[in-house]
Amino acid sequence: MLNQKNIILGVCGSIAAYKSAVLVRLLIKAGANVKVILTADAANFITPLTLATLSKHPVYTQYFEEETGVWSNHVELGLWADYLIIAPASANTISKMANGLCDNLLSAVYLSAKCPVLLAPAMDLDMWKHQSTQNNITQLKAFGNTIIAPNKGELASGLFGEGRMAEPEEIVAFLTAYIKKDLPLCGQKVLVTAGPTYEAIDPVRFIGNHSSGKMGFAIADRFAAMGAEVTLITGPTAEKSLANVNRIDVVSAADMLKACEAHFGDSQVTIMSAAVADYTPQTVANQKIKKHENDLSINLVKTTDILASLGRQKKNGQLLIGFALETENEEEHAKAKLLKKNLDLIVLNSLNDPGAGFKTNTNKITLFNKTFEKTVFDVKSKTEVAKDISDAIVAMMGK
Ligand code: CTP
Repeated sequence: MLNQKNIILGVCGSIAAYKSAVLVRLLIKAGANVKVILTADAANFITPLTLATLSKHPVYTQYFEEETGVWSNHVELGLWADYLIIAPASANTISKMANGLCDNLLSAVYLSAKCPVLLAPAMDLDMWKHQSTQNNITQLKAFGNTIIAPNKGELASGLFGEGRMAEPEEIVAFLTAYIKKDLPLCGQKVLVTAGPTYEAIDPVRFIGNHSSGKMGFAIADRFAAMGAEVTLITGPTAEKSLANVNRIDVVSAADMLKACEAHFGDSQVTIMSAAVADYTPQTVANQKIKKHENDLSINLVKTTDILASLGRQKKNGQLLIGFALETENEEEHAKAKLLKKNLDLIVLNSLNDPGAGFKTNTNKITLFNKTFEKTVFDVKSKTEVAKDISDAIVAMMGK
């Protein structure tokens, strides 16, 4: 959720400022771009050097840096940010924000920012409880800002009560959930399959195919970016695991069937992009087969058609999407598969189309929906094709 998000972290004067080092580290680890603004008081609690090193950006402390002669443009900073987090937010800064005061860089950036603002207050319990602070908090909420509530615990004063800043891990989890809740597919479970399957002949050999898994991974990534809870069942592939995707590695068609059966029931959308073996050796030799004979025959038996089996189990409200990889009579075969497997949408690839098929980074697809309505797409990168497929599915979901 935080990958490539631009985050400004405002740090105020509070002992909790020491935790902002961990917070910056966690945000960076989650893929965010972080710029830190320290108030003058905050710089007494944590050094700009620490936060500049962790955030990989210079730390901003005032409008004008005398040493470098650099002017920090508060409007530019405010517009750069996708999210402004103020943690710790002191009673003083909260009061300024509630009343429109603008006497330092942080409060100017706050007034200039158009992005969501989240505050994690930190102060002594009586300051937090004070009616003026509570009025300011109510005012900030009314402005549309979000408060990450302080925890109860031992405070710097030695007193015990509410006022401890939320832990950095809690702030990151809060922000992640905050971003996710506005995404169109939040709360939807999506099952995607990818890659080839390997059917063992003996301990060293197998029957496989050229599928790279790229298409299925791009689809899983796209659905995760839209906030869906994605399970990706993949055959052997060189593709790297994706953030926010629950990856399940399988080898054979039988393994993939088992994993799909376990996850299909509670998935609103299932996209079967794996190139599943249609046949598997009837028996698997326990030992490596030696080359004694001139001829060797391996008896193959049909695997279960996973997609057709899921099509029979499909309930109202579930969407099932299949792929058809064809070399001849492409449209006719794709439509037949759509009907036979009880699909809502089929993605046709023709190996006759340049730029389509295995191991390429591009694909060319044609979609057919249940009423055989046809949509033809140009050759595109697999990431763009994943977007076309997911857009069609999201439209069918009415999202
Ligand atoms: N599929 C599956 N289980 C199998 C074989 C295929 O779930 N044992 C799925 C694929 O993931 C794909 C769709 O069925 O979504 C169509 O696969 P494809 O290989 O094009 O067609 P098949 O149904 O296997 O038919 P044929 O090989 O005869 O074209």
